[in-house]
Amino acid sequence: MADAINIENTAAENESDIQYQYIEKCREYVCSIADKTGRPLKAFSKCMGCQMNAKDSEKLIGILKLMGYEMTEEESEADFVIYNTCTVRENANLKVYGRLGMLGTLKKKNRFMKIAMCGCMMQEADVVEKIKKSYSFVDIVFGTHNIFKFAQLVYNSFNSDGMIIDIWKDTDKIVEDLPSERKYSFKSGVNIMYGCNNFCSYCIVPYVRGRERSRKPQDIINEVKQLSADGVVEIMLLGQNVNSYGKNLDEPITFAQLLREIEKIEGIKRIRFMTSHPKDLSDELILVMKESKKICRHLHLPLQSGSSRILEKMNRRYTKEDYIKLAAKIRREIPDIALTTDIIVGFPGETAEDVMETIDVVRQVRYESAFTFIYSKRTGTPAAQMENQVPENEVKENFNMLLKEVQDIAAEEMKKITGSEQEVLAEMVNEQDSSLITGRLSNNSIVHFKADKSVIGTICKVRLIECKGFYYIGELI
Ligand code: 5AD
Ligand code: SF4
Repeated sequence: MADAINIENTAAENESDIQYQYIEKCREYVCSIADKTGRPLKAFSKCMGCQMNAKDSEKLIGILKLMGYEMTEEESEADFVIYNTCTVRENANLKVYGRLGMLGTLKKKNRFMKIAMCGCMMQEADVVEKIKKSYSFVDIVFGTHNIFKFAQLVYNSFNSDGMIIDIWKDTDKIVEDLPSERKYSFKSGVNIMYGCNNFCSYCIVPYVRGRERSRKPQDIINEVKQLSADGVVEIMLLGQNVNSYGKNLDEPITFAQLLREIEKIEGIKRIRFMTSHPKDLSDELILVMKESKKICRHLHLPLQSGSSRILEKMNRRYTKEDYIKLAAKIRREIPDIALTTDIIVGFPGETAEDVMETIDVVRQVRYESAFTFIYSKRTGTPAAQMENQVPENEVKENFNMLLKEVQDIAAEEMKKITGSEQEVLAEMVNEQDSSLITGRLSNNSIVHFKADKSVIGTICKVRLIECKGFYYIGELI
């Protein structure tokens, strides 16, 4: 069994050329099997995480297609299955093991089938141990730092029987110019940085995604120009903490300066970004957003907790008052902005009073939408060692109380613009009713409206007729 846990591996200067050669070699193999079986080989990809993972999965799919695989939505007919996993909360891990059990049965029926596992979960040593022990039919295991090596790992697997394991502890390299297959033709995520240096005490991301590193502005700008030439009108700049973009570059640049450069690119009509850490959000960024015609009227600003006592234990490096002040400033400067957030309930030592502080912030900031999570204990993080882990029944009650508050306020906030005329990017045919198109407002809200599917990918003028709580019904103007 090839069982190499690499710690010091690195990417070559001409890494993308090397990988294209592996893609070509894999393609020869895939075509030869397709000839033998008299049918095209199919691949299934499942992405379980955040937008960063979704972007990584687009790269994996781009590589699989170049290798000659056809993508399928049916896992049961796939000759290649790849799971890009998430480990932010424990229930994501449990789902993976459930699915793996089922995959083992499928593999017995298809001797050409290959199974690959990648993403954040694979950066945890005990996960890899468990896969080796209980799911030995898995062919390839790799992590978040060497995703660019995918073609090489597949090639190695085609030439060996054992499990190929290649996990890097960290990397300071960014490999540019790999193939990628966009899920949407008209919008795309663009990585601007990788990793995170914040070490919030509950969060496993810094351990599985490594240290923060920014892409060079010119590489980002070139990618956006290329996307624009391909017909993309909306881009989402991706990073765990975009507000600290550029700090570690040889020629430092701020995120706000990067936005100004991207704004100049013709053809791009909308710019979004994710995620902002409140401690690093600058006045310069607020000004650039305010003056911009392209930056969307939406800011995702994770609160996590409204209790200064808990925020300190979380290592968030702002207080309740800092956050409220910042949110008020943003709303004052950009009145039509939508603020959304992430909140965790049940952090160790959290009391009913702490939850009331969080609810107080929700009432003051009045989010248009909020993701609420129950705290999940992640091995290796400082919070996992803390005393006073909160019992589950207590968390549930507080969680429900918070959720109700969040939903009621969000619905009230969203109602305020009912009747207005909005620019909407038409994104897809509605999944329940095919006479409707589903689109997105600049402020990230969803609207369903009657239209032909030919409008998909364009910006339409839509009147919001009715607010249904967390989405609108609209009509084309
Ligand atoms: N438990 C619950 N939620 C978490 N998040 C991150 N780590 C945890 C955890 N251990 C949430 C945070 C973050 C979002 C992406 O996931 O709210 O902003
Ligand atoms: Fe995790 Fe905090 Fe980094 Fe976000 S900023 S990825 S919550 S450590």
